[in-house]
Amino acid sequence: MNLKIGVIKGDGIGPEIVTEAMKVLDKVAGVYGHTCDYTQLLMGGASIDVHGVPLTDETIAEAKACDAVLMGSIGGDAKTSPWYKLEPSKRPEAGLLKIRKALNLFANLRPAVLYEELKGACPLKEEITEGGFDMMIMRELTGGLYFGERKTEEIDGVMTAKDSLTYNEEEIRRIAKRGFDIAMKRRKKVTSVDKANVLDSSRLWRKVVEEVAKDYPEVAVENMLVDNCAMQLVKDPKQFDVILTENMFGDILSDEASMVTGSIGMLASASLNETKFGLYEPSGGSAPDIAGKGIANPIATILSAAMMLRFSFDLDKEADAIEAAVAKVLKDGYRTIDIMSEGKTQIGTEEMGDLISENIR
Ligand code: NAD
Ligand code: IPM
Ligand code: MN
Repeated sequence: MNLKIGVIKGDGIGPEIVTEAMKVLDKVAGVYGHTCDYTQLLMGGASIDVHGVPLTDETIAEAKACDAVLMGSIGGDAKTSPWYKLEPSKRPEAGLLKIRKALNLFANLRPAVLYEELKGACPLKEEITEGGFDMMIMRELTGGLYFGERKTEEIDGVMTAKDSLTYNEEEIRRIAKRGFDIAMKRRKKVTSVDKANVLDSSRLWRKVVEEVAKDYPEVAVENMLVDNCAMQLVKDPKQFDVILTENMFGDILSDEASMVTGSIGMLASASLNETKFGLYEPSGGSAPDIAGKGIANPIATILSAAMMLRFSFDLDKEADAIEAAVAKVLKDGYRTIDIMSEGKTQIGTEEMGDLISENIR
């Protein structure tokens, strides 16, 4: 099979971690008789430097022409990078939001899994993590505060800023259905997270999720308020199977969930629409504090590449091979600095990519 993959290396650690994911993809392709046909695309700061904008319409068209896009992360240090002297709509993050909207990538899947081998990197007590945990955060990605009306103006002599949060029932229904479909293939539990004690959008969210739930009688559903969810994630992460939530809550809760798995450098992500197309990227950012040092953890990006094989190409065996290679390397005791613990061997970004690649069977 020829895999037509768009590649957005991005900014900061982006190029370092994407290089390792491509290395692993090439190895899997070689072992299983596929070819990877990469199209390099520019987005974020790298696109601003060349085109003056974080994402051009040509790049969107090129991305659409691919079967899937693999991405690093975009953005820079807000204090020092010249990108942040531009108006907000021209900054790196605007490119990311634009591509999500343009490709209708409404379903963001972020699997937070505590590998048995990584218990030492997890900040929670052992009795809490005993047996590990495995949850899927389903984050709505093209609505809510991220895409609402925004305005900064002076009202009665006082500077005032507004961001608005809107959801319609169709937007909620399609992500809820996707969440329940995924739960059916997992442990059949959905925790729908909202702030229905305050927000109208959350009350509608809850109503629509309850309607959708009727079509999935085998799935246990519970509603949880987002503040409680933030607390439950560290108190008892094992209780979660699928967490279904809106855009901003999902952004925040997924970073929290990543840390209980050991590091943001472990959290993969897939952003999907109604077709087979997907954008695959680590959930974390461009980590300007460690960029260029060769120490970033490439595993989230490598696991995102595995998600790409699974969701966009139906190559389950190949995806399994990547996941097994990651588990093997962790079992052998190799760690990047973010997941390092006593008695393990610390290695850099490139060595981690090499080892995972060598372990592909
Ligand atoms: P960040 O995720 O980049 O970094 C937070 C912390 O996690 C840092 O200490 C960083 O070193 C560490 N970290 C992140 N990824 C790591 C990895 N793979 N290995 C080891 N350590 C890792 O978040 P931030 O500092 O708040 O944001 C930096 C920039 O990234 C901002 O411009 C932000 O907008 C952007 N960002 C982009 C994306 C994306 O492209 N999807 C996601 C989040 C943030
Ligand atoms: C993420 C990031 C983005 C988001 C930023 C960079 C716009 O934090 O993918 O989680 O908030 O969605
Ligand atoms: Mn985020």
